Amino acid sequence: MKTARIIQGTFVFLISTAFVFLSGSAWAEQLTPEEELGKSIFFDNNLSFNGNQSCAACHDPAAGWTGPETDINAGGAVYEGSIADRFGNRKPPSSAYATPSPVLHFMIEKKEALFIGGNFWDGRATGEKLGNPAADQAQGPFLNPLEQALATPADVVELVCTASYGDLFRQVWGEEICDPANVDMAYNDIALSIAAYEASPEVNAFTSKYDHSFRGQAKLTKQEQRGFALFRGKGKCHRCHISNGQQALFTDFTYDNLGVPRNPDNPFYTEPVYNPDGFGWVDEGLGAFLATRLLDYAPYAEANLGKQKVPTLRNVGKGSCEAEPDNDDCIVKAYAHNGYFKSLKGIVHFYNTRDVKPQCADPFTSETDALDQGCWPEPEVEVNVNIDELGDLGLSPEEEDAIVAFLITLSDDFNP
Ligand code: HEC
Ligand code: HEC
Repeated sequence: MKTARIIQGTFVFLISTAFVFLSGSAWAEQLTPEEELGKSIFFDNNLSFNGNQSCAACHDPAAGWTGPETDINAGGAVYEGSIADRFGNRKPPSSAYATPSPVLHFMIEKKEALFIGGNFWDGRATGEKLGNPAADQAQGPFLNPLEQALATPADVVELVCTASYGDLFRQVWGEEICDPANVDMAYNDIALSIAAYEASPEVNAFTSKYDHSFRGQAKLTKQEQRGFALFRGKGKCHRCHISNGQQALFTDFTYDNLGVPRNPDNPFYTEPVYNPDGFGWVDEGLGAFLATRLLDYAPYAEANLGKQKVPTLRNVGKGSCEAEPDNDDCIVKAYAHNGYFKSLKGIVHFYNTRDVKPQCADPFTSETDALDQGCWPEPEVEVNVNIDELGDLGLSPEEEDAIVAFLITLSDDFNP
């Protein structure tokens, strides 16, 4: 009897430990109510002028949280908004791994102001409003006439309050959050919820082959290892795309002008209402944003014209036919702020040979034509081009391929 009770007790103990253990590990992958709310908002098509566009339209997990359409990526690389024929002017960067970016600030280095942090290619989602660049960013698209195109914060709040997840919204942020007097607070809380989701382990997953190799659950091939060594050494990639250890984000959140050419297919060139300059328009990046900050940053604008944010390289290959030729749903992806490059091989070749090849006669030469003609077009913005860290790397074709193979190990959802 006694022994039986002890055994029974031990059994119950084991069962309950197993239960705690299982629910513990399941918990680690489960979203908090705030993250779950942010996820519902992120994927809700209804939160747009025509009820046809969510954040995921331009930030699809299957495409590494960027634009998923081959037709678009292979051309202008800029996505249409909720209202037809309205386009922004840049390629969507990954919305994953954006949350660790600090509030925009600068340090003085070699007598120059080095800007760090913020979201968007030009850092204009500074994080100064909500203490978090990703949350500041999340308030942009709903009201951007070239994106989700809703009229006012009150419209967004009303749609969230009446959505199927409206109760969750009130549960997380309080019963009175849908009171019209609280619209500003509610709009902030919507953005904070999205940022919480973007910071969750479902989005910043760290589940690539690269990550698994640190856990001893995968081994990089010889070629991938060689690519990693070149990435950190001869290729100089690590100088901006920091690659230290398993938690590496592959960005230092600074800004640079790589001399990326114009993308001739950018639909913004032919959108006179929003772009009166037509084909004369250039994307001045961080510098143009700093120029708007008359009270503090404007004096640094000139030295930052043409600089764009160093993007994370996590998931750059994700979903692409270059990386996943056996994936039936694979797509063409676009790279850099204007999507000029259509493959990782193309952009790596540019880093390697920008200053070696002659300049194409036409500044509006596409990547395909430039590769055919053996030239590169002039930079979109001629000033402040970085000539110290790229342009003539002396990489052989095999070395370029090895770097590409390494970049492909950074795709999440790797199955060891
Ligand atoms: C029509 C396409 C489109 C839609 C819809 C859209 N985005 Fe974006 N997203 C972009 C583009 C383009 C950029 C870069 C814009 C720029 O730099 O000026 C961007 C930038 C971002 C960034 C910045 C990443 C970084 O590292 O700086 C985040 C985060 C993001 N979007 C999240 C969202 C969220 C959240 C939503 C929904 C509320 C959303 N996006 C809706 C196209 C879109
Ligand atoms: C001097 C800093 C710097 C160095 C060195 C550097 N990069 Fe970059 N990288 C950037 C910046 C800035 C961008 C965005 C440029 C733009 O859009 O105009 C970028 C963009 C990219 C992109 C496009 C990502 C996307 O989402 O569109 C890839 C891929 C990339 N870099 C890979 C590399 C590789 C591989 C190397 C080494 C061969 C390298 N980078 C070296 C700063 C750097």
